[in-house]
Amino acid sequence: MADNSDTTDDGVAETSRRTFMKATGAATATAAVGAGTGAAAAQTDEDIENIISTLSLEQKAAQMTQVAISSFEPDPEGSNVPDNFGVDTVGELFTELGVGSVLSGGAAPPSFDGSEVVSGINDLQEYNLRNADHDIPFLYGVDATHGNGLLEGATVFPQRLNMGSTRNPDLIEKAEEHTSDSTVSMGAHWTFAPTTDLQRDPRWGRFFEGISEDPKLEGDVSRARARGLESDDRLASCVKHFGAYSIPNNGNDRAPASTSLRDLRTNLFPPYREALKAEPGTVMVNSGAVNGVPAHASHWLLTRMLRENYGFEGMVVSDWDDLNRMITNHDYAPDFRTATKEAINAGVDMYMIGNGGSAPGPVQFIDTVVSLVRDGEIPADRIDEAVRNILELKADLGLFEEPTVDESRIDGVLGGAKETSEQMAKESMVLLKNDEDTLPLSGDENVLLTGPGVDSEGNNTRALMQHGGWTLGWQGPSGSGPFPRQRLLVDELEDCVGNLTHVPTSYNNTTWWAGQGDAPNQQSDENGEFDFTDAQEEQVRSAAPNADAVVVVVGEGCHNEGFGDRDELVLDEAQQRLIDVVNEETSDSTPVVGVMLAGSPRGSPETFEKLDALLFAGEPGSDGGAAITDTLVGNYNPSGKLAFSWPTNEGTPVGTVPVPYNRYPPTSTGATDNTPLYEFGHGLSYTSFEYGDVSLSQKTVGNPANQSEVTVSVEVTNTGGTAGDHVVEVFNTQSYGSVLQPLRRLLGYERVSLAAGETKTVEVTADLTALEVVPGDMLGVQPKVVEAGDYELTVGQDGPTATLTVKNTRSITDDDPVPGRYDINNDGERGMDDVKALMQGIRGYDD
Ligand code: BGC
Repeated sequence: MADNSDTTDDGVAETSRRTFMKATGAATATAAVGAGTGAAAAQTDEDIENIISTLSLEQKAAQMTQVAISSFEPDPEGSNVPDNFGVDTVGELFTELGVGSVLSGGAAPPSFDGSEVVSGINDLQEYNLRNADHDIPFLYGVDATHGNGLLEGATVFPQRLNMGSTRNPDLIEKAEEHTSDSTVSMGAHWTFAPTTDLQRDPRWGRFFEGISEDPKLEGDVSRARARGLESDDRLASCVKHFGAYSIPNNGNDRAPASTSLRDLRTNLFPPYREALKAEPGTVMVNSGAVNGVPAHASHWLLTRMLRENYGFEGMVVSDWDDLNRMITNHDYAPDFRTATKEAINAGVDMYMIGNGGSAPGPVQFIDTVVSLVRDGEIPADRIDEAVRNILELKADLGLFEEPTVDESRIDGVLGGAKETSEQMAKESMVLLKNDEDTLPLSGDENVLLTGPGVDSEGNNTRALMQHGGWTLGWQGPSGSGPFPRQRLLVDELEDCVGNLTHVPTSYNNTTWWAGQGDAPNQQSDENGEFDFTDAQEEQVRSAAPNADAVVVVVGEGCHNEGFGDRDELVLDEAQQRLIDVVNEETSDSTPVVGVMLAGSPRGSPETFEKLDALLFAGEPGSDGGAAITDTLVGNYNPSGKLAFSWPTNEGTPVGTVPVPYNRYPPTSTGATDNTPLYEFGHGLSYTSFEYGDVSLSQKTVGNPANQSEVTVSVEVTNTGGTAGDHVVEVFNTQSYGSVLQPLRRLLGYERVSLAAGETKTVEVTADLTALEVVPGDMLGVQPKVVEAGDYELTVGQDGPTATLTVKNTRSITDDDPVPGRYDINNDGERGMDDVKALMQGIRGYDD
């Protein structure tokens, strides 16, 4: 709790004033509590309409404005407001402008202390309600993207790429229930999660934010996450970044994506569609451009597709500075007025205003909206609609009734959900290779632990690799902390082996603020500065010969967004040299075990050949050290399955990417081969599982529209001597239709626990929706259907198969899949008016 003993006239604690209300301008604010619109207890639609009717156009535009509090300089003495924000103090955001929302962007609140944050947000809210000329509470948004990664001591769950490996949406939902609790206790109302962008290209710096390259898995987990995040009524989730953000052409963040309507509808849109079934409060827009149109300017995407086709009724927020980015990044709009007009008319309800600098700030946005409406370029109704969406969200969250939260709650929540977090981290460990049963270790060994983990200040930077971006900072924590609750590999391993020698090698977290001072830009392919100094080499050379086993940590530094983009996926040279030195100093019988901490598939076969075993730990979060240790020493039997395909990266820095497992043939042209090194679904265990007979609940489906699921039953036996979990996956592996069929596609999966020698019949629900294709010639506009034909279903990578016959071609999900195709005049109806509109279009006249 903040120390409230030192309070000011209006009862605001000094502690939180320092962090949140620096220069609020309280002295200049005169309006009394309740002096505004009388919005105090808005609950019903009528209440909302009443508020809207009392708001001026300026006030409405202000509700549509969100300002990043993290853009404010930590300068309690002077003005700390970015120049372009048009006000002198934070307080004036409310008193002068009356903005509708603030955010702590980049997982960086003004303080990492939970008590300070909650009292700060409460104070700010009270200040807003006391001093603004309306009674509308603001919404406070944060990036709690893998747990509440904003607070010191918080539990951070494994990153999104780990979540996919668990194939366990129920467990992930449970984790997100904790995130919900923790984020609400912190005083925030909204988290910008779940990311629902299909994982595809590992060059992209946000690869670690994807769940999977498979649309079904991405959708299942995103839906479970949205549900879990909204389990507390006081928290709104945000399905982002709608749509197709994750496929920038060249792997560079926010570069345009060229894709086809067929790819969008078959692969990229379905996860969002699935997540939207959880009725998230908000959706965030893709910062990039798709097929030549910035997503923020696409009426088709944000209104026709999102609202009319998918039935989304919540609020649409832009991404950070993205109206301005239509000018600066896409060179699409000539000026801010054009960008604002296009975005709001396309369907953006709220503008997230990020950085300072020369970008238009809140005053300019509000003025621009007002002027556009006055000039008839944005319909007044459209503004009312946006404000309605915003106010309804505030009402749904109960903000009008209870604008603040109980400040004592955070203490009991912070750092909780330990078991869930540990279980999730364990289930996400993927054992990539294990030659001659190198692992598990017996636990009695004399172990040398080495690999990146110390910076030039002596900080333990391996912790950063464990957590990744969006953890107490945009690009992850700083080397000196603060940190979330964390169990580190070195400590955990020390407790579980005979004797541990630790030689951390150099990893400096490179900074991202390019061009400022001497700070280097993090835009390095290695995502960090790695080194293997002479002194470290000497220590490794002296310790390795005495070791019974060597554990070498490899991987990449924490990173985020464009600063994480890379065009090399091989391991940093210093890490490769370390592996060579370890091999030189150990006999062939000494196991050399790699543990990879990374948010992307790093390393080449040449390097991996030098390791006897390799565990991909990803970015496993708070309990990562325990999960890795328990896996290494066999207290936990690994069960994670890759949720993406691991490119070969052989010979060339990147090799053939992207290579998702559900790509179209061919895999080889004779001259080139794009077979991944490790396939989607790959993951070894300390025991072995065998499949028996497989059967289908029915071999024939007459009409998939009426029956979209079939149960696949298979006997699974644990034929080894160790108990373990196994994820049974059912793929479609062969089929023919009117268009290309992917190499394989996932229809269902089920995690099962089996004791040594035990057999169980596992029932997997095969979701026939995953078989839908967009038929027809190149346009890709026809309704999605499951085409009549025979579908070979395979259990696991190459297990038993069964054939499912679909008798009739039918659509499960879409009878009007491409909105606007026939509704020419956009009135929501398809009729003679459209024929007339079409004729008018062809002839080029208006009436
Ligand atoms: C990211 C979003 C994030 C927002 C706020 C943007 O740069 O693209 O995913 O929610 O910042 O931090």
